[in-house]
Order: sequence, then structure tokens, then C-alpha cells
Amino acid sequence: MALKVVILAAGKGTRMRSKLPKVLQPLAQKPLLQHVIDTAQQLHCDEVIAVIGHGAESVKLHVTGDNLVFTLQEQQLGTGHAVVMANDFYSDNDTVLILYGDVPLTAKKTLEDLLSLVDEKHPLALLTITLDDSSGYGRIVRDQHRSVQAIVEQKDATLDQLLIKEVNTGIMAVKGALLRSWLAALKNSNAQGEYYLTDIIAMAVKDGYSVPTTQPVHEMEVLGVNDKLQLQSLERKYQRTLANALMDQGATLIDANRLDIRGDVTIGQDVLIDADVIFEGRVVLGENVEIGAHCILKNVTIADNTIIHPFSHVEGSVIGNDCIVGPYARLRPGTELAERARVGNFVETKKSKIGSGSKISHLSYIGDTIMGAGVNIGAGTITCNYDGVNKHRTVIGDNVFIGSDSQLVAPVIIGAGATIGAGSTITKDADANELTLSRSKQLTLKGWSKPVKKPK
Ligand code: UD1
Ligand code: CA
Repeated sequence: MALKVVILAAGKGTRMRSKLPKVLQPLAQKPLLQHVIDTAQQLHCDEVIAVIGHGAESVKLHVTGDNLVFTLQEQQLGTGHAVVMANDFYSDNDTVLILYGDVPLTAKKTLEDLLSLVDEKHPLALLTITLDDSSGYGRIVRDQHRSVQAIVEQKDATLDQLLIKEVNTGIMAVKGALLRSWLAALKNSNAQGEYYLTDIIAMAVKDGYSVPTTQPVHEMEVLGVNDKLQLQSLERKYQRTLANALMDQGATLIDANRLDIRGDVTIGQDVLIDADVIFEGRVVLGENVEIGAHCILKNVTIADNTIIHPFSHVEGSVIGNDCIVGPYARLRPGTELAERARVGNFVETKKSKIGSGSKISHLSYIGDTIMGAGVNIGAGTITCNYDGVNKHRTVIGDNVFIGSDSQLVAPVIIGAGATIGAGSTITKDADANELTLSRSKQLTLKGWSKPVKKPK
């Protein structure tokens, strides 16, 4: 007996008005369908079967998962027909969990609750929800004993049935053998001329089974996305949940509605995050880390007591403890700051190691550089790492002082303790502990007089 998850993801999503298939639309920068696949994977299921149709080739390319297989539904003849397309992938003894590619946020716990309802006596279980406004959804019809009798789609419902507040989320768990036989009996004689998956509920009841139901903890878990309005509304709800989770772990957020997490964030104690911050990919923040307003951090690890001042853009970097970065710093991939390093305003770094306590305080570009400890880089220093064809390395020893507005033309080595005079263009290695400068001599022309304007 195995668990198979079938995800219905063939629909076009016309209302998105987009070339991108609906199930690839991003929620927190991740395709809707990928959210569902990731949840399925958390259930340790044996196989995930995605039923795809519209934009199938593109969908295949843009989602991934263990044990993920695709099956094509060429024509969208209804949710029941879609599940038929997965018939070859489950066996009679399997439990089949049916999810939707456009319902991205169902919690693992909710699905486990649903699956726990399925046994020999209850081969079909349903996830329902009670809504104030049930319009658009299939209604759950119960008898006088509160037993589920059927699901009636809105377009097929009687006036009395339209008043029912408990609706079908679409999500259900079914034993393989019965699913197969019920699907085979589906007819499309309804208002939409479709093969409704929901018709199998009445079939189960007719076969003498009672249909247990459960509900999710949060409404957000079963919200589907059909247009850009719903997409952004779910994005905001989801972001708020992620922000709440960070606060639960002790983070101080200046405005929980102005933080965006598009990936995974791990935090230490007493982290402070100011307004309008975006985290992408894997972000790890140590204790007492402070992230200033309007910072974007992508795939970044930051050790304890470090401050990132406002408007900094940090990507693919590892930052040590007690560092100060920004405001307006740009740390590009491959940047590593050792403890107590400082990178100030309008400084760009790339593929560079900055030693402990070293400072690059203003207006500099440091690329492909290995820098020792205790270095001071003057304002306007540029490592000229590119000769138009190849990239070259700059090595700067411990306790070097680079005067302002210097260019270090790589490959070049600045020996430990060296001082480079301001305004120098350094093209050859500089000796340790010496002053090196390249600068034309300063002249004063005595008695020179300013030009005067000629009369017209
Ligand atoms: C469906 C349910 C309804 C439920 C609602 C919850 C049916 C008949 N109705 O209605 O009871 O309240 O979901 O949101 O099941 N799909 C395919 N192939 C198809 C048809 C649909 O892959 O041939 C996919 C769609 O891409 C979508 C999902 O199945 O992801 C649901 O289909 P949709 O047409 O949106 O069903 P609803 O009318 O919303
Ligand atoms: Ca729908």
C-alpha cells in the first residue's frame, strides 16, 4: 500500500491573462505548482503525478521534485477526466490524494488529518470548508444525520443548495480500486458538460460508504488562484504568515506587512528587521543582526552582531560577526567578509575575501580580490580586474593602506604593511612596508596670469 499524490494542473487559467501557464505563476517567487509538489513531498508519498495540459512543455521544465512524473491531459474535459489521466500510476491498494495545482498553500498537517480518515470502511474522505460566501464552489449536501450525500456544483445547484455554506475544497483522498471504478462510471450530463470528479461522492454513498470530512485550520490553505487579484491577495496573506512565523521565533519586525520572504530564512535571537526588506533564497541571520530599511538579501549568511544599513543589496555572500555594511552597499556573489569588516556607501564587491577589521568605506570597486586583515581602502579605489578579455586577481596583504582614488591594475600584489599614495595607478607589485606611488610631480608656474575675455 502506497501513497500517490495526483495534482490537477492542466487548466489554462484564462483569467490570468498571461502567456505563463497558471500553475507556473509565482507565489513568493515560486511557481504555484511547485508549492503543491513541495507539500506532497513533505508527506513522504511514493509518487507525485502531475496532470498537465496547457503549457505542458514549459510546466515540465519549471517544476521539480523527487518521484515526480507527468501525465498529459490533452483536452480539459473536467476534473474527473483529469484524474483518469493518472489511472496508470496508482494500483488498487494505493491511497490516492488529489490536490490542485492552483491551490498552493495547503498545510501538511491538514492533509495528514485527511489521510488519517481513510481506511477499509471509509475509502473516500473529503476536505471541506465553511465559508461566509460560498459562491463559485461545489456545495456539500448532507442528510438529516449530517452524513455527506453528494457535492453539487454551483451551476447545477437548486436554490436551497445554493444557501449551503460548507463547500468542497476539491481536495480528497480515495482508495485506488474504488477510485478507478467510480471514475469509469462518470458521465458528463451536467450544466458544464464536464466529467466532474465530485460526482464520485454520491457514488460512494450509493455503494454504502459514509464519507468522513475534515476542515483546514486556515482558510488560506484551500484558496485557489484564478486571476492576478487573487494571486496578489494570496501573496500578501502568505507573506504575513511568514512574517508572523519570524516574530514567533523572536524577530522584531518594524512593519510585518512590509517584509517579503521569497525562500527560507533562519534567524538567531534578537534580530531586527526594518521596513521594506526582501529576503530571497536561503538567508541565515545570526544573533543581534540588524537589517536596515529597503535592503535586499539573496542567499546570504550573516554572523552575530552585524548591521546591514539601509538600501544595501547583498547576494551570494558570507558576512562575519560584528561587520557593518552600507548604507547603499552592493555585495555581489562570492563576497566574504571576515569579522569586524566594514563596507560603506557606494561600494561594490565581487568574488572577494575581505580580512578581519578591514575597511572599504566609500565609493570603491573591489573584485577578484584577496584582502588581508586591518586593511584600509581609501575612497574611490578601483581594482581593475578585467583587461577586456580575462579577469585577474588582486592580492592585498595585512595592514595595507591604499590612498584614495587609486587603481590597482590586476594581476597585482600589494605586500603587507604597504602604503599606496593617493591617486596612484599601480601596475606592478608593491613592496611590503614601503610607500609606493605613481603620480606626476606637482608644478606651480610662478607669475602665470589668468586669460582675459577678448572684446567682441
Ligand atoms: C472544482 C470543484 C468544486 C470545488 C472547487 C474548489 C469539480 C467538478 N468541482 O470546481 O466542487 O468547490 O474546485 O476550488 O471538481 N483541471 C484539469 N483538467 C480539467 C479540469 C480542471 O486539470 O479538465 C484542473 C484545473 O486546472 C484546476 C482544477 O483542476 O487546477 C480545478 O478545476 P476548475 O475548473 O477550476 O474547477 P472548479 O470549477 O473551480
Ligand atoms: Ca477553480
